[in-house]
Amino acid sequence: MRVVDLDRDMSDVIPTGTTRDSEYLFDRMTQATLGHTDPGPGRRILDVASGFGQDAILLQEKGATVVGAEPSERMMAWARMKSDEATGAVPSWVRGWSDALPFATDSFDAAFCKGALDHFDRPELAIAEMARVTRPGGRVVLAIANFESLSCRGARAVDDLRELGLGRPVARGRRHYDVPADHFTRYELSLMREQAGAHLHLDTVEGISLAWGLPLWTRAVGHLPAPLADASLRLLDGLAGRFPGLADVIILAGHPRRSRGS
Ligand SMILES: C[S@@+](CC[C@H](N)C(=O)[O-])C[C@H]1O[C@@H](n2cnc3c(N)ncnc32)[C@H](O)[C@@H]1O
Repeated sequence: MRVVDLDRDMSDVIPTGTTRDSEYLFDRMTQATLGHTDPGPGRRILDVASGFGQDAILLQEKGATVVGAEPSERMMAWARMKSDEATGAVPSWVRGWSDALPFATDSFDAAFCKGALDHFDRPELAIAEMARVTRPGGRVVLAIANFESLSCRGARAVDDLRELGLGRPVARGRRHYDVPADHFTRYELSLMREQAGAHLHLDTVEGISLAWGLPLWTRAVGHLPAPLADASLRLLDGLAGRFPGLADVIILAGHPRRSRGS
């Protein structure tokens, strides 16, 4: 039986924009992911699991011809509502599963999937499908949360020390290093490389943001004067770029591995 919530909304997703480090992470992830699709006039781009549709709408505004594919009726209704407000051309919204994309082979110049691969019950098939519908030489871009980030490891170690070492009460509620209930896969760099590398010639493995969600850091950066906070976030982001295995989010991009006719 397939266990997927077709009425899903975003109420259980990490709230974005609530703290300075969250805002930075989500902005950077969006910019980098969309940037790797080389958006621009004449490009045909597919957003897989397009959710509310905000990324597809942004790319369409940059002149690309964009299709958002999404199985959830509710998410798609949000996307339609948002795009109805736009004045210019808007993306096409297509209901569809990532592992059986309803598009012909070689239909797109680029396909991307942001923050959703770990929600899929068949993620590797989804990557294969993205490679199939992207033309040879085109770009496939994946942005995935890293559950072995420095932040996850650090927070887990501190909690273990408190709870197991010092016998303090177990922290209640989901910690940011715990995989949410609606995720099927707990990703870290080697698994991402393995699954993406099976279908893509990877030319980009980029780390985004460091230390996101560590309570002390979140509080500290929230209190710093804005220029100092930005400089600190950028500095850590630069380190994440050099050490993607420790980054909060990892972006992998490349062109389809399959040969024509495969
Ligand atoms: C966290 S949201 C991300 C949405 C969007 N990409 C963004 O960055 O805002 C995850 C999305 O994956 C979709 N989803 C879950 N399982 C899926 C599947 N098997 N195929 C395609 N989309 C799926 C959900 O409906 C949801 O819209």
